[in-house]
Amino acid sequence: MNNQSLKIAIIGPGQVGVTLAKLWSKTGHEIFLGSREPAKAALIASELGQNMQGMGIADAAAAADIILFSFPWYALIDVQREIGKCEGKVIIDCINPITSSGSLALGHKWSAGEEIAQTFPLAKVVKAFNHIYLGHFEDPIFDGSPATAYYCSNSDEAKGIAVQLATEMGFDPVDIGPIKHARYLEPLALLWIQMAFHMGKGADFTFKLVNR
Ligand SMILES: NC(=O)c1ccc[n+]([C@@H]2O[C@H](COP(=O)([O-])OP(=O)(O)OC[C@H]3O[C@@H](n4cnc5c(N)ncnc54)[C@H](OP(=O)(O)O)[C@@H]3O)[C@@H](O)[C@H]2O)c1
Repeated sequence: MNNQSLKIAIIGPGQVGVTLAKLWSKTGHEIFLGSREPAKAALIASELGQNMQGMGIADAAAAADIILFSFPWYALIDVQREIGKCEGKVIIDCINPITSSGSLALGHKWSAGEEIAQTFPLAKVVKAFNHIYLGHFEDPIFDGSPATAYYCSNSDEAKGIAVQLATEMGFDPVDIGPIKHARYLEPLALLWIQMAFHMGKGADFTFKLVNR
């Protein structure tokens, strides 16, 4: 496994962004938290510890080679205005394009992953971690075995980054093909949300790939 130290910008230091920032900084990666409120990001970074700095969105994206998108779907255009083309960078997209009524804003023939890849044609976009509940990032072991972390991308380099990060966190990364398959992965996250929060199953389960 490639376990190089990475420079990672986290755009959207909310629940997911802060959880992943903590985990990734602990494994030696350099984290740049990018917020619409740079002072807030700087405070969060100083409270979370070493290997982390907080700043504005554009500065964070410029400082890193890898950029995690952990903001709401509706914010994509705002963020794009701030960060430009991201030429040559890897974008990790963990966004679920959820509407205010809780359904998918797009799907079946298109996905947030594909929209992001089209919006940033000079970047290498990988869809990953969107189907993993934030409470599972720190403890991915279920019944003694690691939860599956599905990912898809048209870039082998971006897939390699997803594999490195997922493996370091203790997940079992599984390649599900090109970025086009984000249109199947995003509904999986919505199925998890339905089962967990609308069917009374609770959050203590995951979808695992098993092989015969
Ligand atoms: N919650 C989960 O378990 C989970 C799991 C997997 C994937 N996801 C996905 O991860 C993303 C983040 O989820 P979350 O639960 O972490 O949400 P959250 O706690 O609400 O955090 C989202 C962050 O996005 C930033 N943001 C909001 N509007 C923005 C805008 N217009 N421009 C730029 N930044 C903006 C905010 O940061 P600032 O105010 O500091 O700018 C905010 O902290 C969502 O797309 C979600 O579908 C969530």
